[in-house]
Amino acid sequence: MRFAKGMGDLCLAEIVALLGTLKVDGADQPQCQLTPTCIMITQVSLRTLVSLTALLTTAREVLWLVGSGRAGSIGEIKDRCAAVPWPLLLTRGSTLGLRVASTSSHVFHEGKVAELVGKALAKHGMSEVPKVSARQLLDVRLIDDRIAFALSLAGRPLYQRHYKKALAGTATVKEDIAAACTQATLRFATEHQGASYQPGRILVPFAGSGTLGFEAAIALRRIPPWIFFGPLGAEAFPCIPQATMNFMRRASLTRMQEAGDRHLEVTFIDDDAAQVEALRINTANFNDHVTATGGEATAFTIIHSDFFECTWPAGDGHLFIALNPPFGLRLEDRAAVDRLYPRLAKTISGAPGALAGFALAPTEAVARRFASGLKDMATQLRPFNHGGRTVYLVMFSRAT
Ligand SMILES: C[S@@+](CC[C@H](N)C(=O)[O-])C[C@H]1O[C@@H](n2cnc3c(N)ncnc32)[C@H](O)[C@@H]1O
Repeated sequence: MRFAKGMGDLCLAEIVALLGTLKVDGADQPQCQLTPTCIMITQVSLRTLVSLTALLTTAREVLWLVGSGRAGSIGEIKDRCAAVPWPLLLTRGSTLGLRVASTSSHVFHEGKVAELVGKALAKHGMSEVPKVSARQLLDVRLIDDRIAFALSLAGRPLYQRHYKKALAGTATVKEDIAAACTQATLRFATEHQGASYQPGRILVPFAGSGTLGFEAAIALRRIPPWIFFGPLGAEAFPCIPQATMNFMRRASLTRMQEAGDRHLEVTFIDDDAAQVEALRINTANFNDHVTATGGEATAFTIIHSDFFECTWPAGDGHLFIALNPPFGLRLEDRAAVDRLYPRLAKTISGAPGALAGFALAPTEAVARRFASGLKDMATQLRPFNHGGRTVYLVMFSRAT
């Protein structure tokens, strides 16, 4: 399993919790090992692995290692390619996106490695195509003259959820990062406010295309991400029985349906008309997918306004505030960012009742200033990588 840099512990916690419910006695004795770049899981059945792929929200990718070995020359690469049981994994006519990386190896030309893999696949009637149009994804890594072939069980990166039809590309955080921030904050709020902590109202003040609100709904209503982009790549693998896929679908949908009666209102605020229009399209699309698979629609409210001029939405239930302030978009100058965060802290401190939430901040100094401006709240910071730079997650919680 791959995860966004800095989110490995959260991804591991999600995997361990899911394995507790999915594990088949006798078949599974899963071992998880967290490394700086991935989580290795061994001694796990394909059924459990496929179900994990369907449910994980904080993983970037689930890759199944299908072949590996020494590959210090062109001849050895050809041999390793030939040793992979391709016809058990993929059918003739399959299209694959290929991702090749080579480091510290004699064959350093990635294009050459891709060509050799492409030829091996062609022998079985499979072809490499651009990743966007591929049904499957094959990851090939050559490191220190050892090659590893890994097939994506989702057939694509898992953060590409596809619930956003409109303005999907605006300065947004990737979905797996938003999910990890949500998980971290829910955990933090539970530690601070007690085991019964369960937010009923989600407020997303700088909503953009809506990622933070959608990921909160996915987490709290246990919506399996595959319903937005499915089927999984693994559903076309000849070696996986139909019963396994049926189990995955049933188990993940039942989990969602059981959480359906949890009360949840999600309010988006954005002052940009185009974003508000995009949110209308995206919320409708989101609910269409949920209801088509037997889930309950989420109550979304979209407010076209400046957040600082809004009144706090009324209603019952704990308030959860998810903030991705526009620190890099419109506010290029530091002085404006320096003013924004203390103002935000003051505004949030004025919200009535118990609350919890998080904000993304561009630097540690800004994060600390924001945290110290929050009144009567427990706070916690953690750095993570967002688009190649280190940014900060500030979590906050107030019990009453
Ligand atoms: C960094 S983007 C947020 C990205 C978002 N999390 C997403 O997933 O796309 C910031 C958004 O805040 C909005 N915005 C900026 N200032 C605002 C304000 N004072 N009140 C409400 N919305 C604001 C912008 O229109 C923009 O859509």
